[in-house]
Amino acid sequence: MGKLTSLLLFALISSTQAAPRIDCLPEPNGNQGACEARGCIWKEDDSGIGAPWCYFKDGVGYKLDSQQGSTYNLRKNSGPSNPWGADSTEIKLTTKKIGSVLNVHIGIDGRYEPPVDFPRETQPSDESLVLSTDSSSDVFSFSVVRQSSNRKLFDTSLGGLIFSDQFIQIATYLPSENMYGWGENTHQTLRHDFTKYLTWAMFARDQPPNSGNLDTMNLYGVHPYYMILEPDGKAHGVLILNSNAQEVMTAPGPSLIYRTIGGNLDMYFFPGPTPELVTQQYLKFIGKPFLPAYWALGYQLSRYGYKGLDEMKTRIQAVRDAGIPIDIVLISGVADIDYMQRYKDFTTGDDWSGFGDYVKTMHSWGMKLILIFDPAIEATYDSFKRGMAANAKFVEWETQAQVQTGIQNLYPMAKNTKIMLGVVWPDNHVAFPDFLDSTNNTQNWWISEFVNYQSQVAFDGIWIDMNEPSNFGTNQNHPWYFDSDDHPDDAPLFCPTDGSNLWEMPPYKTRAVWRWGDAGNGAFLSTNTLCLLALQDGGKQRFYNVKNLYGLTEAIHTQKALFKATGKRGAVVSRSTYPSAGRYAGHWLGDNTARWEDLRTSVIGAQEFNMFGIPYVGSDVCGFIGTTTEELCLRWQQMGAFHSFFRNHNTIGAPAQDPAVWPSVAAATKQANLFRYQYLPYLFSLHFVASQSGASVIRPVFFEFPTDAETFNLGYQFMWGPRMMVAPVIYQGHTTQNVYLPTDTWYSLFDYKYGSIISPGYATVQAPTTSRIPVFVRGTDKVSFLVRPHPLLPLPLVRIHSNFSLLHAQWEKVSELCIGMTERLLSMISTLMTTITSISFITRLPLVVFSQLIIPRRSVFEGFLKMKVDFQSSTISLPTLDIIEIFNYPKAPNFRSFTVNGKTVNINVQKSTYSGVTKTLYISTPGLIDLTSADSIVIQWSNAGSSMFEMNVANPGKMKALNTNRYEELYF
Ligand code: GLC
Repeated sequence: MGKLTSLLLFALISSTQAAPRIDCLPEPNGNQGACEARGCIWKEDDSGIGAPWCYFKDGVGYKLDSQQGSTYNLRKNSGPSNPWGADSTEIKLTTKKIGSVLNVHIGIDGRYEPPVDFPRETQPSDESLVLSTDSSSDVFSFSVVRQSSNRKLFDTSLGGLIFSDQFIQIATYLPSENMYGWGENTHQTLRHDFTKYLTWAMFARDQPPNSGNLDTMNLYGVHPYYMILEPDGKAHGVLILNSNAQEVMTAPGPSLIYRTIGGNLDMYFFPGPTPELVTQQYLKFIGKPFLPAYWALGYQLSRYGYKGLDEMKTRIQAVRDAGIPIDIVLISGVADIDYMQRYKDFTTGDDWSGFGDYVKTMHSWGMKLILIFDPAIEATYDSFKRGMAANAKFVEWETQAQVQTGIQNLYPMAKNTKIMLGVVWPDNHVAFPDFLDSTNNTQNWWISEFVNYQSQVAFDGIWIDMNEPSNFGTNQNHPWYFDSDDHPDDAPLFCPTDGSNLWEMPPYKTRAVWRWGDAGNGAFLSTNTLCLLALQDGGKQRFYNVKNLYGLTEAIHTQKALFKATGKRGAVVSRSTYPSAGRYAGHWLGDNTARWEDLRTSVIGAQEFNMFGIPYVGSDVCGFIGTTTEELCLRWQQMGAFHSFFRNHNTIGAPAQDPAVWPSVAAATKQANLFRYQYLPYLFSLHFVASQSGASVIRPVFFEFPTDAETFNLGYQFMWGPRMMVAPVIYQGHTTQNVYLPTDTWYSLFDYKYGSIISPGYATVQAPTTSRIPVFVRGTDKVSFLVRPHPLLPLPLVRIHSNFSLLHAQWEKVSELCIGMTERLLSMISTLMTTITSISFITRLPLVVFSQLIIPRRSVFEGFLKMKVDFQSSTISLPTLDIIEIFNYPKAPNFRSFTVNGKTVNINVQKSTYSGVTKTLYISTPGLIDLTSADSIVIQWSNAGSSMFEMNVANPGKMKALNTNRYEELYF
């Protein structure tokens, strides 16, 4: 069939397609009788697209009652009513502009709104979004329209608006099937699939991802946010600021139906128009990501189930012995709950005596330590006692009568309180700190616990886990831990689940419950967590509403604790997240399984979390659950080396999987890590920019090529910022890789044809396990050079001893490069930051540290190369610039012609090469350029039998003297 014929056919099918069905019976085990009792239509559908068999009749919705300015008063119309509670008769739609962001709020004043503190910083856009309404019929509808193209980005003419106390729904047509985001779920493809009906659950749950098959269940965090790429390549984003249990159904049309069981519909539309601008607008609005310490981008070795400190020491030593550079570059040892005294926060286990001293040794090697802390505090020991003494609050029962006294009375400190006790890792019952406590007693106590413990074991970063919050065995007569040797038979938490308890048993429970069955099968909203009727902040907040914010609120105060305890930026990583969590913490993708499918979904997950504003993200490398294999672990190490959060982590009882276990994995890890460390300034720069102006770090390829349809679902390749593309090997047995390179100039940065231009389009490249995985660098005007420190350079040297060091690079005003910065808190240097920003990063601050420079040449480049390096020297000695590498260099140089500031330099001709095939010039000479030797350094050379090339290392003041007509200028 010709392309045109299929397009016509598609157009025909689309135009005759029935309107999408709006599900009237999403609960399990629906039948015709139940459907018709709801007044809905029952019509079986065997087309295999999962269309609901029970769906609403037309006319569901509200009609316009009156309008005052941008407020539309809506009244329930005469259409079908809602099966999940009485329809609210009057609701209000209000709209306003916040900078370029369009806000549409539908609901009732005074209802619950998430207590989140977004900065709502705005960023101008050339694009304008406007609201258009249609009240001509009994069903009021509205559209959000992009003015420049007149395209409807959100169009509720589909009907289906429902508003009742515990069931709210909005349905819309979408302008394109290119939709990305919503979370936290496991997506097997980057782009959503509108060929069928799928319901994605969003409710924070301690739930290992399932990548083995399509599974729309809810995971640890909640991100009611999506981005759509419109047919003309423009993009917009939408946030629905709601924190209740919720879900989204994607359906043909393309359309979507969003449901939540509380709060209001508070929607924010971000105009873009590029995907990256959408991300920046969204991140500025919710809060820009924190800047991790430089070391936090290093390689992290972790496992759950160390028998004691000795075992951790042995494995760290094995990795060091395997030559994986953990001593002089970055690596963090990560200690799981094993280090604690019977899994109690802020304690050290008997088998871990000497931990504090070992950490000092680790520090002397340049290593760092990240420690895990769970939120749940055992109700027996000093930390809890100090909390009680400080009037810290814990998640509570609503009334004394609800309290499970059989449990409460076991703990003298908790007796006669309403604290809701549950079960997590510790031996006895635990209490859950209330991070919404408006008295701040809880937060102050929490912070002081970290400060105390840090003085014993000097951790550098914090890992917060189990913060959905997770509770074991809720509502179960025989929880799993009854059969665990490591866990006593603590009585489980039981929530009142009779029908009258509408927090526990709301009329509609969302897919977070239906995925597992229903109450008859023991599936509740409180499964794996606390009772939904619980209260926080002295009764001001209901857990039913704020549960999804638990991880976020814990992260906020844990970051404060880290700052207070260490005085440095460090890094926090959190399992549960919500919009804005990226300001405070990173995220790992949870308890994956050692399977190829999980490697693949983690490539997608990291891109999604960058869209969610949490760029410090990665997966458990080699797989957490189950036994990994040599090949899988090797490929995962290679891929993970391109994720910002890069941690090999393994579950208890599984065989060791650190890279030292297999020589092949050790070799591949070493190779991958060295590559990463070499390009770390670039990765760090991307984080720096993200922290200053909101941006993605890792981004989908379509972000950079939004009009190239081949990129729209290219989930298994990704970009590092605008410049580098990574195409990891993610299938078993593959030794070649099919890659897609959008139209541009691409240079290979890996073993296959290193330094050569690779033609755009589809290509199959060699990628044996012994090679680096395919990585390419763009050579356009926009992105032309990378500066690399020597990978073995001690990090303390790359970082700076003085206050602050920033290096900015730009080629024609575009890119930024931040080479080093102390671990000091950004807040301490904010004045300085402002100054730098306002003068467009041109200022050179103390210290520039390079040992290599790579310059992929621009395609337009002719004649001379002039390179300028501007710096102000600092008091510490700088490594020399030893290697200059230039791609696409036209001719062999005369290696004997090099001069630096007029003085002949002896280029090491054994180490320096020029390839006429790859056109790569590689100049390597120890001590080639001493950056501190003069304000201005000019390197000149001639080509074999041809013109003179010149490289100039100069101070900014001398810039103007340069003849810019003749020279390309490069700042770094
Ligand atoms: C949870 C975490 C996992 C950790 C384990 C023990 O399952 O997700 O990473 O190893 O708890 O603390």
